[in-house]
Amino acid sequence: MPDPSRPIRTAAVIPAAGRGVRLGPGAPKALRTLGGTPMLVHAVRAMAASRAVSLVVVVAPPDGAPEVRTLLDEHSFGRTELLVVPGGETRQESVRRGLDALPDGIDVVLVHDAARPLVPVDTVDAVIATVRSGAPAVVPALPLADTVKQVEPRPRGEAEPVTGTPERALLRAVQTPQGFDRETLLKAHDTVVEGEGATDDAGLVERLGAPVVVVPGHEEAFKVTRPLDLVLAEAVLARRRATDGYV
Ligand code: CTP
Ligand code: MG
Repeated sequence: MPDPSRPIRTAAVIPAAGRGVRLGPGAPKALRTLGGTPMLVHAVRAMAASRAVSLVVVVAPPDGAPEVRTLLDEHSFGRTELLVVPGGETRQESVRRGLDALPDGIDVVLVHDAARPLVPVDTVDAVIATVRSGAPAVVPALPLADTVKQVEPRPRGEAEPVTGTPERALLRAVQTPQGFDRETLLKAHDTVVEGEGATDDAGLVERLGAPVVVVPGHEEAFKVTRPLDLVLAEAVLARRRATDGYV
Protein backbone atom coordinates (compact mmCIF):
# COMPACT_ATOMS: atom_id res chain seq x y z
CA MET A 1 0.00 0.00 0.00
CA PRO A 2 1.35 3.46 -0.82
CA ASP A 3 1.99 5.58 2.26
CA PRO A 4 0.03 8.84 1.76
CA SER A 5 2.35 10.73 4.12
CA ARG A 6 5.41 10.00 1.95
CA PRO A 7 6.04 12.39 -0.97
CA ILE A 8 5.89 10.93 -4.49
CA ARG A 9 9.41 10.53 -5.84
CA THR A 10 10.24 10.62 -9.54
CA ALA A 11 13.36 9.28 -11.26
CA ALA A 12 14.43 9.43 -14.91
CA VAL A 13 16.27 6.58 -16.65
CA ILE A 14 18.28 7.77 -19.67
CA PRO A 15 19.32 5.02 -22.08
CA ALA A 16 22.54 6.31 -23.65
CA ALA A 17 24.28 3.05 -24.59
CA GLY A 18 23.61 3.08 -28.33
CA ARG A 19 26.33 3.45 -30.92
CA GLY A 20 24.55 5.86 -33.24
CA VAL A 21 25.15 3.87 -36.41
CA ARG A 22 22.75 6.02 -38.45
CA LEU A 23 24.62 9.18 -37.46
CA GLY A 24 27.76 7.83 -39.11
CA PRO A 25 31.24 7.01 -37.79
CA GLY A 26 32.45 8.62 -34.56
CA ALA A 27 32.02 8.43 -30.80
CA PRO A 28 28.89 6.78 -29.29
CA LYS A 29 25.98 9.09 -30.17
CA ALA A 30 25.24 10.27 -26.63
CA LEU A 31 28.82 11.50 -26.25
CA ARG A 32 28.89 13.54 -29.44
CA THR A 33 28.66 17.25 -28.84
CA LEU A 34 25.98 19.83 -29.55
CA GLY A 35 27.20 23.38 -29.16
CA GLY A 36 30.36 21.98 -27.57
CA THR A 37 28.51 20.01 -24.87
CA PRO A 38 27.88 16.23 -25.06
CA MET A 39 24.32 15.35 -26.06
CA LEU A 40 24.02 13.27 -22.88
CA VAL A 41 24.77 16.31 -20.70
CA HIS A 42 21.96 18.23 -22.44
CA ALA A 43 19.62 15.27 -21.89
CA VAL A 44 20.47 14.97 -18.18
CA ARG A 45 19.96 18.72 -17.77
CA ALA A 46 16.58 18.45 -19.48
CA MET A 47 15.46 15.91 -16.86
CA ALA A 48 17.10 17.71 -13.93
CA ALA A 49 15.31 20.91 -15.03
CA SER A 50 12.08 19.41 -13.71
CA ARG A 51 11.70 20.11 -10.00
CA ALA A 52 9.94 16.77 -9.63
CA VAL A 53 12.93 14.69 -10.80
CA SER A 54 15.16 13.82 -7.83
CA LEU A 55 17.29 11.10 -9.44
CA VAL A 56 18.67 10.47 -12.94
CA VAL A 57 20.01 7.03 -13.86
CA VAL A 58 22.25 7.20 -16.92
CA VAL A 59 22.75 3.97 -18.84
CA ALA A 60 26.20 4.25 -20.40
CA PRO A 61 27.78 2.29 -23.27
CA PRO A 62 28.62 -1.23 -21.92
CA ASP A 63 32.34 -0.54 -21.45
CA GLY A 64 32.03 3.23 -20.94
CA ALA A 65 30.44 3.68 -17.50
CA PRO A 66 33.57 5.03 -15.72
CA GLU A 67 34.24 7.50 -18.57
CA VAL A 68 30.61 8.70 -18.50
CA ARG A 69 30.72 9.10 -14.72
CA THR A 70 33.85 11.27 -15.06
CA LEU A 71 32.23 13.33 -17.81
CA LEU A 72 29.05 13.96 -15.79
CA ASP A 73 31.08 14.86 -12.69
CA GLU A 74 32.51 17.78 -14.68
CA HIS A 75 29.01 19.30 -14.93
CA SER A 76 26.51 20.49 -12.39
CA PHE A 77 22.90 19.31 -12.29
CA GLY A 78 21.64 21.20 -9.26
CA ARG A 79 20.35 19.00 -6.46
CA THR A 80 19.51 16.07 -8.76
CA GLU A 81 21.23 12.84 -7.78
CA LEU A 82 23.01 10.87 -10.53
CA LEU A 83 23.74 7.17 -10.99
CA VAL A 84 25.64 5.66 -13.93
CA VAL A 85 25.25 1.99 -14.93
CA PRO A 86 26.52 0.05 -17.97
CA GLY A 87 24.00 -0.70 -20.74
CA GLY A 88 23.31 -3.70 -22.93
CA GLU A 89 23.09 -4.81 -26.54
CA THR A 90 19.55 -3.50 -27.11
CA ARG A 91 17.65 -0.46 -25.92
CA GLN A 92 15.23 -2.67 -23.99
CA GLU A 93 18.13 -4.36 -22.17
CA SER A 94 19.71 -0.97 -21.42
CA VAL A 95 16.46 0.38 -19.94
CA ARG A 96 16.12 -2.81 -17.89
CA ARG A 97 19.58 -2.24 -16.40
CA GLY A 98 18.62 1.31 -15.52
CA LEU A 99 15.43 0.11 -13.83
CA ASP A 100 17.41 -2.46 -11.83
CA ALA A 101 19.46 0.40 -10.35
CA LEU A 102 16.44 2.33 -9.01
CA PRO A 103 16.40 2.59 -5.23
CA ASP A 104 13.31 1.96 -3.09
CA GLY A 105 10.99 4.89 -2.67
CA ILE A 106 10.73 5.85 -6.35
CA ASP A 107 7.08 5.84 -7.47
CA VAL A 108 7.18 7.44 -10.92
CA VAL A 109 9.74 6.55 -13.60
CA LEU A 110 10.50 8.48 -16.77
CA VAL A 111 12.42 6.81 -19.58
CA HIS A 112 14.13 9.37 -21.79
CA ASP A 113 16.38 8.86 -24.83
CA ALA A 114 19.77 10.56 -24.55
CA ALA A 115 19.23 11.15 -28.26
CA ARG A 116 16.45 13.69 -27.46
CA PRO A 117 18.68 16.29 -25.79
CA LEU A 118 16.45 19.34 -26.27
CA VAL A 119 13.08 18.28 -24.84
CA PRO A 120 11.58 21.32 -23.04
CA VAL A 121 10.91 21.07 -19.31
CA ASP A 122 7.19 21.80 -19.83
CA THR A 123 6.87 18.54 -21.76
CA VAL A 124 8.68 16.65 -18.98
CA ASP A 125 6.43 18.20 -16.34
CA ALA A 126 3.26 17.46 -18.32
CA VAL A 127 4.19 13.76 -18.53
CA ILE A 128 4.96 13.58 -14.81
CA ALA A 129 1.74 15.39 -13.85
CA THR A 130 -0.37 12.98 -15.91
CA VAL A 131 1.25 9.92 -14.27
CA ARG A 132 0.79 11.49 -10.84
CA SER A 133 -2.86 12.07 -11.55
CA GLY A 134 -3.33 8.32 -12.01
CA ALA A 135 -2.37 7.26 -15.56
CA PRO A 136 -0.05 4.20 -15.40
CA ALA A 137 1.69 5.05 -18.70
CA VAL A 138 2.01 8.40 -20.47
CA VAL A 139 3.61 9.18 -23.82
CA PRO A 140 4.29 12.60 -25.39
CA ALA A 141 3.40 12.57 -29.07
CA LEU A 142 2.71 14.75 -32.09
CA PRO A 143 0.44 14.40 -35.13
CA LEU A 144 2.25 13.32 -38.29
CA ALA A 145 3.13 15.69 -41.10
CA ASP A 146 3.66 12.91 -43.66
CA THR A 147 1.07 10.45 -44.88
CA VAL A 148 2.10 6.91 -43.87
CA LYS A 149 1.88 3.85 -46.15
CA GLN A 150 1.96 0.23 -45.13
CA VAL A 151 4.00 -1.88 -47.56
CA GLU A 152 5.10 -5.42 -48.26
CA PRO A 153 8.82 -5.02 -47.53
CA ARG A 154 11.27 -5.92 -50.34
CA PRO A 155 15.07 -5.80 -50.46
CA ARG A 156 16.48 -2.28 -50.50
CA GLY A 157 16.12 -0.53 -53.82
CA GLU A 158 13.26 -2.73 -55.08
CA ALA A 159 9.79 -1.24 -55.53
CA GLU A 160 7.52 -2.23 -52.62
CA PRO A 161 3.80 -2.91 -53.07
CA VAL A 162 1.55 -0.69 -50.93
CA THR A 163 -0.91 -2.66 -48.82
CA GLY A 164 -2.70 0.21 -47.10
CA THR A 165 -2.84 3.80 -45.89
CA PRO A 166 -3.74 4.24 -42.20
CA GLU A 167 -5.88 7.31 -41.56
CA ARG A 168 -3.34 10.00 -40.70
CA ALA A 169 -5.61 11.79 -38.23
CA LEU A 170 -5.52 8.67 -36.03
CA LEU A 171 -1.71 8.41 -35.94
CA ARG A 172 0.79 10.02 -33.55
CA ALA A 173 4.60 10.04 -33.62
CA VAL A 174 5.75 9.30 -30.07
CA GLN A 175 8.63 10.85 -28.21
CA THR A 176 10.24 10.63 -24.81
CA PRO A 177 10.25 11.09 -21.84
CA GLN A 178 7.62 8.40 -21.46
CA GLY A 179 6.33 8.29 -17.89
CA PHE A 180 5.14 5.33 -15.84
CA ASP A 181 3.90 4.18 -12.55
CA ARG A 182 6.99 2.27 -11.39
CA GLU A 183 5.21 -1.03 -10.69
CA THR A 184 3.57 -1.03 -14.11
CA LEU A 185 6.84 -0.43 -15.96
CA LEU A 186 8.72 -3.09 -13.97
CA LYS A 187 5.97 -5.61 -14.61
CA ALA A 188 6.02 -4.79 -18.34
CA HIS A 189 9.79 -5.29 -18.54
CA ASP A 190 9.52 -8.54 -16.54
CA THR A 191 6.69 -9.92 -18.64
CA VAL A 192 7.32 -8.93 -22.23
CA VAL A 193 10.09 -10.81 -23.99
CA GLU A 194 12.63 -8.95 -26.11
CA GLY A 195 11.97 -9.22 -29.81
CA GLU A 196 8.17 -9.31 -29.51
CA GLY A 197 8.09 -6.13 -31.52
CA ALA A 198 7.72 -3.42 -28.88
CA THR A 199 10.02 -0.55 -29.95
CA ASP A 200 9.33 1.66 -26.94
CA ASP A 201 8.56 1.25 -23.26
CA ALA A 202 4.90 2.16 -23.63
CA GLY A 203 4.66 -0.64 -26.19
CA LEU A 204 5.64 -3.13 -23.46
CA VAL A 205 2.90 -1.75 -21.21
CA GLU A 206 0.36 -2.05 -24.05
CA ARG A 207 1.27 -5.73 -24.32
CA LEU A 208 0.34 -6.13 -20.65
CA GLY A 209 -3.08 -4.78 -21.51
CA ALA A 210 -2.63 -1.72 -19.29
CA PRO A 211 -3.87 1.65 -20.55
CA VAL A 212 -1.43 4.09 -22.17
CA VAL A 213 -2.35 7.72 -22.83
CA VAL A 214 -0.81 10.38 -25.04
CA VAL A 215 -0.15 14.01 -24.06
CA PRO A 216 1.07 16.73 -26.43
CA GLY A 217 4.73 16.34 -27.34
CA HIS A 218 7.02 19.09 -28.60
CA GLU A 219 8.82 19.70 -31.91
CA GLU A 220 12.07 20.24 -30.01
CA ALA A 221 11.85 16.78 -28.44
CA PHE A 222 12.86 15.27 -31.81
CA LYS A 223 15.36 12.42 -31.82
CA VAL A 224 18.84 13.03 -33.20
CA THR A 225 19.11 10.05 -35.52
CA ARG A 226 20.69 11.11 -38.83
CA PRO A 227 23.28 13.78 -39.72
CA LEU A 228 20.61 16.32 -40.73
CA ASP A 229 19.12 16.10 -37.21
CA LEU A 230 22.42 17.44 -35.85
CA VAL A 231 22.07 20.53 -38.03
CA LEU A 232 18.57 21.15 -36.64
CA ALA A 233 19.68 20.52 -33.06
CA GLU A 234 22.59 22.97 -33.40
CA ALA A 235 20.17 25.60 -34.76
CA VAL A 236 17.67 25.11 -31.90
CA LEU A 237 20.48 25.32 -29.38
CA ALA A 238 21.95 28.48 -30.95
CA ARG A 239 18.51 30.14 -30.85
CA ARG A 240 18.02 29.19 -27.20
CA ARG A 241 21.43 30.50 -26.26
CA ALA A 242 20.71 33.78 -28.03
CA THR A 243 17.22 34.28 -26.61
CA ASP A 244 16.81 32.31 -23.35
CA GLY A 245 20.29 32.36 -21.82
CA TYR A 246 20.36 28.57 -22.17
CA VAL A 247 23.81 27.08 -21.50
N1 CTP B 1 20.18 2.81 -26.63
C1 CTP B 1 20.72 2.16 -25.50
N2 CTP B 1 21.23 0.89 -25.63
C2 CTP B 1 21.24 0.27 -26.82
C3 CTP B 1 20.70 0.90 -27.96
C4 CTP B 1 20.17 2.18 -27.83
O1 CTP B 1 20.72 2.73 -24.41
N3 CTP B 1 21.78 -0.95 -26.90
C5 CTP B 1 19.69 4.19 -26.47
C6 CTP B 1 20.46 5.18 -27.36
O2 CTP B 1 21.68 5.55 -26.72
C7 CTP B 1 19.48 6.32 -27.52
C8 CTP B 1 18.12 5.64 -27.38
O3 CTP B 1 18.36 4.31 -26.90
O4 CTP B 1 19.61 7.33 -26.54
C9 CTP B 1 17.34 5.64 -28.68
O5 CTP B 1 18.00 4.81 -29.62
P1 CTP B 1 18.53 5.26 -31.06
O6 CTP B 1 18.10 6.64 -31.37
O7 CTP B 1 18.23 4.15 -31.98
O8 CTP B 1 20.12 5.37 -30.79
P2 CTP B 1 21.27 4.41 -31.29
O9 CTP B 1 20.83 2.99 -31.11
O10 CTP B 1 22.51 4.86 -30.63
O11 CTP B 1 21.33 4.79 -32.85
P3 CTP B 1 21.41 3.79 -34.10
O12 CTP B 1 20.15 2.94 -34.00
O13 CTP B 1 21.46 4.69 -35.28
O14 CTP B 1 22.68 2.98 -33.90
MG1 MG C 1 19.13 2.22 -32.23
